[in-house]
Amino acid sequence: MSQFLRVILVDSDPASRAGVRQILLATSSLVVAEFSRIAEAVAGAAPYRPDLVILEVPTEQGGKAQGEWLSAIEELARALPNTAILATAAGVSAELVIRAIRAGTFDFLGRPVKQDELLAALAKMARFHRRGATEHRRGKVASVFSTKGGVGVTTIATNLAVCLAESTPGDVLLVDLDIRQSDVATFLNLRPTYSTLDAFEHAGRLDEPFLKGLLTKHGSGLWVLPGPMRMERIKVAGEQVKVGLEILRSYFEHVVLDLPHDLDPGTITALEASDVILFLVSPTVSALRSSAAGLAAFRHLGLDPKRIRIVVMRDGTGDEITLRHVQEMLGVSIYWRTPSEYPTVVTAINRGEPVVTASPRSKIAKNLRELSDQLVNGLASGAEPAPARTAFRLPWMPKAIRGGK
Ligand SMILES: Nc1ncnc2c1ncn2[C@@H]1O[C@H](COP(=O)(O)OP(=O)(O)OP(=O)(O)O)[C@@H](O)[C@H]1O
Ligand SMILES: [Mg+2]
Repeated sequence: MSQFLRVILVDSDPASRAGVRQILLATSSLVVAEFSRIAEAVAGAAPYRPDLVILEVPTEQGGKAQGEWLSAIEELARALPNTAILATAAGVSAELVIRAIRAGTFDFLGRPVKQDELLAALAKMARFHRRGATEHRRGKVASVFSTKGGVGVTTIATNLAVCLAESTPGDVLLVDLDIRQSDVATFLNLRPTYSTLDAFEHAGRLDEPFLKGLLTKHGSGLWVLPGPMRMERIKVAGEQVKVGLEILRSYFEHVVLDLPHDLDPGTITALEASDVILFLVSPTVSALRSSAAGLAAFRHLGLDPKRIRIVVMRDGTGDEITLRHVQEMLGVSIYWRTPSEYPTVVTAINRGEPVVTASPRSKIAKNLRELSDQLVNGLASGAEPAPARTAFRLPWMPKAIRGGK
């Protein structure tokens, strides 16, 4: 369950909203929607399932405006029975504070909102939240990553997602974050209208109906957010990924990410948000060197090594590179090995079908189904893979390959 607070801002002043958003960036909260008027929030806030509404008290507080505002708070509190309401005001009478608290607000802050005051209110809010007012589901995020292209990221991500969707239909989302090489739609033969970019650009308003309108459904029951069909130069910003993933995982049991190969801010944020990272490696010296450098970068970034699962792709094709060499070069133990079956895999890709359904009796299909089962069991039990045997160390070339004995 998430400790993230879903926040709605109701404020007629864009600068004030920006100030509050800025303060919230450093906290475990997400601004899921913004409105300029309380009437708009009364009508439209519920689908965003907010934990907290931060609401401006209008400056004009003549009797009528004040009375209308207080009844609007009552209406808002009725529309959002599990949501805390926090008011912001520049100089209000004690009487208004008391009446607003009776109407449903839990605290008052001065305007412009100060960081320490808002943080103190959030701490109070967190205590309220822990008492069980609302708790959101926090689905598991599984990332598939490799440092080099063409290793099999999209193959693993699509097949894994389809296997997961078969066991939990309607509850699995595959997101193509590889904007430049977006192959997910091709691998699954989809004709999407919207892409990852559309979703992440509007991360702040991803309520359920809007989100479902953006997604494409695959025949297996898998929901898909494919990459854009045109070559795009834009990258998804780290903050958009953070907010977007936090919201997406509150709607799905499993979110599978097809990641690009470079460590740009969006990819790093996605890796940080992942419960498990399938790190694909292929058994060649150049690929392993690049993987070792990638693992060193992960360590430098402070990514939890316990979440990383090394998957050797096309096992046995590395001629003189054995699994022992792979382990030695990477300094971490191997979690999984997939067999090499190029004709079977490429035929499935060309047909736009996942290999697990296109050739269910093939070795690779069985292997990928087992991988999916093993991951689900591991995620459910919180089990971790065996700890790294050694640190990520140099020299990266094993003796046998350097020509030594
Ligand atoms: N187990 C396997 N055995 C043989 N070939 C495989 C296997 N897995 C993937 N391939 C092949 O590797 C190629 C690249 O696969 P894929 O597109 O999934 O990799 P990628 O890492 O996503 O590549 P890109 O960098 O283009 O995004 C495909 O032609 C696919 O058929
Ligand atoms: Mg790919």
